[in-house]
Amino acid sequence: MQLFYQDEQADLERFMRRVFYMLFYNNIAGDYAEFGCHGARTFTLAARTSQMIGHGAHLWALDSFEGLPSSGDPRDQHSGWTPGAMAMSESAFIEACLAQGVERDAFTTVPGFYSDSLSAAAPGPRPERVCFAYVDCDLYTSTLEALRFLDGRLCHGGVLALDDYYCYSETHPSGERLAALEVFEDHPRWRLVPYHHWGWNGQSFVIEDRFTGPGGPTL
Ligand SMILES: C[S@@+](CC[C@H](N)C(=O)[O-])C[C@H]1O[C@@H](n2cnc3c(N)ncnc32)[C@H](O)[C@@H]1O
Repeated sequence: MQLFYQDEQADLERFMRRVFYMLFYNNIAGDYAEFGCHGARTFTLAARTSQMIGHGAHLWALDSFEGLPSSGDPRDQHSGWTPGAMAMSESAFIEACLAQGVERDAFTTVPGFYSDSLSAAAPGPRPERVCFAYVDCDLYTSTLEALRFLDGRLCHGGVLALDDYYCYSETHPSGERLAALEVFEDHPRWRLVPYHHWGWNGQSFVIEDRFTGPGGPTL
């Protein structure tokens, strides 16, 4: 999401502080994974906030670095989302992070469209345990790919943030909210507990494991 309304940045900063503080206080270890990183605004904010609070998450930037993919799927339809929009090269992204004081060994970039880069066959390191997933890839199909990738990597007490949760197509359900509903509505393991809402656009959830432990009930 790129448009700004007056309080958006302050709201986002408050949101990031709350999440990293909760993770720190509850001792929830893991990585930060951002799906959709154009501009490095949210990514560098997460890096600064994690460091300030002392959480120490490693940060993963997962993006095509070529902008939005093209899609004929009506569930991706939105007047603001056009193929190739929001392209920022991987090297420009890395430069922006370094320029804002993010240490090079604190983050890893995973370039490519998710249909390739998140597939099981894709080479290279990937996050294994994600305690804070920030999904900002706009499209329904991109979000679905990100959430399916995250499924086995989320952890109890972690946070899933959907930056465009309240972006709708004019005529039908679409985008990030639709993908999240599909993946989590009847999920056998993870339950989403509504957490903070920020700006006009974003909604986050705490991830709860329905299984309470050996011999315990499944809630
Ligand atoms: C709204 S921008 C992200 C903005 C960023 N989080 C910020 O505000 O600092 C959306 C990003 O999602 C990426 N994206 C969307 N669908 C993708 C896909 N299927 N594979 C890889 N990247 C994708 C685009 O390249 C773009 O950089």
